[in-house]
Amino acid sequence: MTVVGTLKLLLCVSVMLVTADMYREQALRIMDTTPVIDGHNDLPWQFLERFNNQLTGVDLYTLNSTHTNIPKLREGRVGGQFWAAYVPCDTQGKDAVKRTLEQIDFVHRMCENYPSIFLCVQSSAGIKEAISTKKVASLIGVEGGHSIDSSLGALRTFYNLGVRYMTLTHSCNTPWVDNWLVDTGKDTVVSNGLSQFGKRVVLEMNRLGMMVDLAHVSVKTMRDALSVSLAPVIFSHSSAYALCNHARNVPDDLLETVRQKRGLVMVNFYNNYVTCSNSANLSQVADHFDYIKRIAGAESVGFGGDYDGVPRVPHGLEDVSKYPDLVAELLRRGWTQTEVEAALAKNLIRVFEEVEQVSRNMHTQRPDDEPIPYKEIESDCHTGHGYNTGKRQLLGPALLLVCLLCTLLM
Ligand SMILES: *[C@@H]1O[C@H](CO)[C@@H](O)[C@H](O)[C@H]1NC(C)=O
Ligand SMILES: *[C@@H]1O[C@H](CO)[C@@H](O)[C@H](O)[C@H]1NC(C)=O
Ligand SMILES: [Zn+2]
Repeated sequence: MTVVGTLKLLLCVSVMLVTADMYREQALRIMDTTPVIDGHNDLPWQFLERFNNQLTGVDLYTLNSTHTNIPKLREGRVGGQFWAAYVPCDTQGKDAVKRTLEQIDFVHRMCENYPSIFLCVQSSAGIKEAISTKKVASLIGVEGGHSIDSSLGALRTFYNLGVRYMTLTHSCNTPWVDNWLVDTGKDTVVSNGLSQFGKRVVLEMNRLGMMVDLAHVSVKTMRDALSVSLAPVIFSHSSAYALCNHARNVPDDLLETVRQKRGLVMVNFYNNYVTCSNSANLSQVADHFDYIKRIAGAESVGFGGDYDGVPRVPHGLEDVSKYPDLVAELLRRGWTQTEVEAALAKNLIRVFEEVEQVSRNMHTQRPDDEPIPYKEIESDCHTGHGYNTGKRQLLGPALLLVCLLCTLLM
């Protein structure tokens, strides 16, 4: 290569580097006022597994075996996070409610232990307040309808403890809703989407002002919830089915419906949902952003990294410090500042505000206090208190008979 050729090459490389830097600079500038609000992070689950939920003796500044710690959140310009109150499906019908309460308690304790870093909030206004004081707005999402054990009372109590979304299922059906595994043949259709009670759960969430999250549910459940819900719904951590045909992702026709219903799909970074293989990179995640923006619209796309909830994350998105690199890539691909700000935070805040407005509109409606039919939850682990159960009805006449016999024999 001639000297001139070498110089030209060097020039090209440095222009590329400068341009890359320019987009990263712009990303950081945007995120300075509009930091990312991420839909799903499983740090509470990591604490349950590693430390049995103890914060004492663990330093969130130096913890380095997780995707998430305080310096990484700062570097990643994370301004809001929905922390998942997740407990596995093997708790269903057993200690699911207690264990979910403990995960909710974990988030509250995290905010208490690090008051200069996290601010636990429960409203769209609270998110803005936290961001304006440079704290991480910390919200709680319950991941899986099994956590309420088919109880509207438990649902309302979760709301009162600050829970602001519930994913209708994790990876199991509940007595009132089907999960994504029924679309893979690994689970059987039970409710065919939402049962009658399931529809009432969604309406009660609307009335409370709790967002309906459709990550993890079956396609029929997505359809049912999108048609029943009076407020926009979210997918807190799901990607595009058209780019990777995994049943955890959102099919095109539902992306269209999400656009019509002003909902939100927050892109999941898990390699296996991004590429349907064990490896992925940042640019392939950006492809999902491009795609969902194209089909659902720039008003309906967001970030739902699933950090600390998955075993593999893409090259270039190794932990929560990397969001600015992804934003830089979107800018490089021609996303406008307005579109980037929408995806980062404004879409979530807009959906949350609409959910809050629907709740205010329903304020004259009383809480739904009709319990799920007993036959739908009957099991050895459930008592029938309050229900007019078969057991009790049989017991009455039987007792009477025994008493009669006793009297006769005496
Ligand atoms: C991670 O933290 C542990 C315990 O504080 C420390 O021994 C180790 O050197 C750290 N590793 C890295 C890569 O920083
Ligand atoms: C990401 O992976 C794809 C597919 O392997 C590859 O074509 C692309 O060059 C990679 N991008 C980066 C930035 O590494
Ligand atoms: Zn999940």
